[in-house]
Amino acid sequence: MVLFSGARPQPIATTSPYLLKYSPMTEKKTNSPRHIAVIMDGNGRWAVQRGLSRLEGHRAGLKAVQDTARHLNHLGLEYATFYAFSTENWTRPPTEVKGLFKLLGESIDNEKRALHEDNIRIKWLGQEDRLASRLIKDIREAEEYTRNNTGMTLCLALNYGGRQEIVNAARALVTDGIKTKDINEKQLESRLYTSGIPDVDLLIRTAGEQRLSNFLLWQCAYAEFYFTPILWPDFNRAEMDKALHAYASRQRRFGGL
Ligand code: FPP
Repeated sequence: MVLFSGARPQPIATTSPYLLKYSPMTEKKTNSPRHIAVIMDGNGRWAVQRGLSRLEGHRAGLKAVQDTARHLNHLGLEYATFYAFSTENWTRPPTEVKGLFKLLGESIDNEKRALHEDNIRIKWLGQEDRLASRLIKDIREAEEYTRNNTGMTLCLALNYGGRQEIVNAARALVTDGIKTKDINEKQLESRLYTSGIPDVDLLIRTAGEQRLSNFLLWQCAYAEFYFTPILWPDFNRAEMDKALHAYASRQRRFGGL
């Protein structure tokens, strides 16, 4: 399975139909998200509805990542994070876990050049524990290969858990010898996987679920949430535009009036 394959996207021009059509990213700059995070739910249900295996659902989900990430890059989004595998997903049946990792490994390895051509930077959010050394190597290589790109940063949350991320950051503060009086949000933030990446502006979750599921707990402190009943494999560019329009209509006050 190939991520981001097919026709190369055209560079953004001011006459781009995307920019004319998708006003949320252009009309009112203050209403444009910088960072969108996605919990891709419903792959299994999508497959079952069609009499397919759950893995076929994940394959279809991968295509939806391909489509929507490319779309967001075209629109000029800076950061998109996809929740590909949580630390809790290890409790799934071994065959599903194995199949998912095969899919992830193939897509990362196959697609790093295509992503590079699209000027996309790849970043991994998550821990190495329990992952195959080959997969770790492939992800690190993809990060390195695309490190200097200036388009969208595509974050893959893989073997990711939000609480664990915060615990790890707290440990790093101690290891780094930071004095209690010097511990603040900035210090902790700089030790998260997302160090240097802005907070999530818009969190999208599909398939009718309305939970955060240990995803970017710190980074979603002021995120706007967008929930849709659409199953993830059916989530396409048009659905992403709906989410962007919904976001553009929200009033964000960050605790103020
Ligand atoms: C949730 O659907 C989906 C997952 C746990 C895996 C998501 C992974 C992909 C789409 C594959 C590749 C992604 C990237 C970014 C390379 P579910 O299985 O919980 O569905 P269900 O709730 O209907 O059972």
